Amino acid sequence: MSSRATASARANIALVKYWGKRDRRLNLPAVGSLSMTLSALTTTTSVSFEEGLPDDEFTLNDTPVVIDNGCRMRRVLDEVRSQAGFSKRARVLSRNDFATAAGLASSASGFAALALAAARAAGLDTKLTTLAHLARLGSGSAPRSLLGGIVALEAGESADGSDCLPVQLTPEGSWEIELLVVITGSGSKEVGSAEGMELSRTTSPYYSAWLREAARDLARGRRAVAARDFGALGRVTEASCFRMHAVALAATPALLYWNGVTVEVIRKVQALRRLGLEAYSTVDAGPHVKVLVCSRDSARLAQELGAVDGVLEVLTARPGPGAWEESE
Ligand code: DP6
Repeated sequence: MSSRATASARANIALVKYWGKRDRRLNLPAVGSLSMTLSALTTTTSVSFEEGLPDDEFTLNDTPVVIDNGCRMRRVLDEVRSQAGFSKRARVLSRNDFATAAGLASSASGFAALALAAARAAGLDTKLTTLAHLARLGSGSAPRSLLGGIVALEAGESADGSDCLPVQLTPEGSWEIELLVVITGSGSKEVGSAEGMELSRTTSPYYSAWLREAARDLARGRRAVAARDFGALGRVTEASCFRMHAVALAATPALLYWNGVTVEVIRKVQALRRLGLEAYSTVDAGPHVKVLVCSRDSARLAQELGAVDGVLEVLTARPGPGAWEESE
């Protein structure tokens, strides 16, 4: 007997950043965040729980991946099994329609798709609270990919994370804004987000200032979205990114996620702004720059940024949909 389901989800990029955890076991964020779910970068995942399977099996883009005990995938599957009340092992097949090697975040789309497919395959309910809990055990940014458009995720205060739920602020298609994903190098990042944020929490002298300011930035971001104020959203997007990287840079050892091209792209965005083209940069725990733009300027800005020395590629994404189930 097996039960199988397939789901897809899109990547999301934080405009107001999550960096730091208030509970590492449940992977609860120390700060709230605000993100755009993208119309590009999709992960599709099938899960089947099968009687007689000796262990969980995971295949990513046709390559088998070993699932260690305690790894995030196992935590999500174990939680699904415990809620469903069975012990059947899972066969998980996952595919990204983008190059993971380029160092683009695949964990958010990956764990949002896994949460939905695994919950459905196990016969659990697929309410947002259930899916957000499962997705978050995989990755703190993954609950945001459950919803489309612009999404806020409050840090919450409850010990079990029940008040740490994603909320859609504007649906996809309701605001003519885009993100240009500027690829500045290849290869995966040296220090992953989880490790980087823990190092920041434990060693960066700026961490408490970060927590304070992050809460204000989230409020600023929410107000900007409510007022459809692109400039205000862009300014808080850049500020939140620079504050996050300042905290990381001040950690011991210092976390420097940028390469030279990252800096050149940020400078180019500033120069274009001085020419009257509104655009704002944000960078995650890797070297690529994501640039928030109005749709009307997107093609011109993509061309300008694509011409910066060292830039490999510029992808364009609109606000996209939340996770969805595929028919079998
Ligand atoms: C810089 O969600 O990858 O992209 O919860 O440990 O999986 P874990 O971290 P992750 O961190 C995302 C950090 C960020 C900012 C953000 O997306 O909010």
